[in-house]
Amino acid sequence: MKRSNAIAAIDIGSTKVTALVADVNEYGQARVLGVGVAPAAGLSRGVIDNIQSAREAVGTAVEKAEQSCGMRILSGVVAIHGSHLNSQNNRGIVAITDRSEPITTDDRERAVEVAGQISIPTNRQVVHVIPRGYWIEGTDPVSDPVGMYGARLDAETHIVTAAVSAVQNLTKCVEDAGVQVDEIVLGSLAAATGSLTTEERAQGVAAVDIGGSTTSICVYDENAVAHTATLALGGAHLTQDLARLLRCPWESAERLKCEHGSALTGEEVGSVEVEVRAFGTNSRKRVSAGHVAEILQARTEEILEMVAIELKRAGYLDRLAAGLVLTGGTSQLRGIDELAEQRLDLPARVGGPRGCTGLTDLIATPAYATVVGLAKHALRGTAAQQPAGARRDVQEAGFFRRIAAFGRAFIPQ
Ligand SMILES: Nc1ncnc2c1ncn2[C@@H]1O[C@H](COP(=O)(O)OP(=O)(O)OP(=O)(O)O)[C@@H](O)[C@H]1O
Ligand SMILES: [Mg+2]
Repeated sequence: MKRSNAIAAIDIGSTKVTALVADVNEYGQARVLGVGVAPAAGLSRGVIDNIQSAREAVGTAVEKAEQSCGMRILSGVVAIHGSHLNSQNNRGIVAITDRSEPITTDDRERAVEVAGQISIPTNRQVVHVIPRGYWIEGTDPVSDPVGMYGARLDAETHIVTAAVSAVQNLTKCVEDAGVQVDEIVLGSLAAATGSLTTEERAQGVAAVDIGGSTTSICVYDENAVAHTATLALGGAHLTQDLARLLRCPWESAERLKCEHGSALTGEEVGSVEVEVRAFGTNSRKRVSAGHVAEILQARTEEILEMVAIELKRAGYLDRLAAGLVLTGGTSQLRGIDELAEQRLDLPARVGGPRGCTGLTDLIATPAYATVVGLAKHALRGTAAQQPAGARRDVQEAGFFRRIAAFGRAFIPQ
């Protein structure tokens, strides 16, 4: 059995489950080796509501990914979604005992640890403690205090917490599908990692992942994660609106949205007529593309409006020089970037997965930004630190898991 440096990433979305296998090429880029996608089941608004169905969907995606890369997946990084997720920024201060000596990595870690301590109810747990910045003696911020002098070090962190039950259900579902969970990563953070550029992160940007039934937001301000949030609205609401208002089956509405839908109403859209299967008779009826766009625009505006309210509430709406990067499957709706620019008065672009090689044609659309971001996250180690207690002891968990504990997430099939 030869060794492998490959990692696996699993994103359980509300419309699809994706498993991706990747390693790093000689230029340090993520290289996609295998992809498996299965229709989602057992999920409601990003959270598992039927563990058996969800397990089967994960099992199918994992099997397909295994077939496509010829390796067996034993463990992986998994995204967590849902409105049970909360986040807050927190500051911690530590004294440097000997100010004649430079600040050490231990001092920096101590400061982050203190800044990561918050009191939470017993039904919640910390998922991430992400360092945001440091201040020496409370004055100007420094990007890394190690090697500098001072008697006091402040650190600020972005802390993400989740409902314990949601984490347990997610872990159980993936483990029942035969895959050990190495790490749980916030879905919106993964979507940002998958789609943003370094320049955008530095200038201030919000990655907005509009998926099937959730919209998640990750704000970067001055290169650091500043705010994360999840809204319970997504592409399924657009399809539902079409199905209700045009009185047609869900599948017809979904196809109509993806093939002829637009978030913009305009002359050229209005003049086209499209056919849609209707309820009641077996016939098809004609609707104008302009009417379809009107329905889609109203709901898209609502989603964008809620994003704007969340950004304003968190205090970042005026700080986003790079504006919005729209990702997730619904960002493929024609004109959504233009509508976002008009309504939020911010630059907006649609962002697919970036910076990877290999089987990229399989994950080329924005719907795969999250799973690519997860893989990048796993490949570069822990940019977002997890508290020690959140990591699982893989050594106690069976034969395959013992192999995983030695750093081997795969065995060749
Ligand atoms: N061309 C298109 N135009 C508009 N919407 C589209 C298009 N292609 C896909 N979608 C929509 O994208 C949504 C699925 O997106 P995605 O795959 O990102 O969701 P997910 O990750 O499974 O769900 P979530 O992130 O909410 O849990 C569906 O609602 C689908 O209708
Ligand atoms: Mg998603």
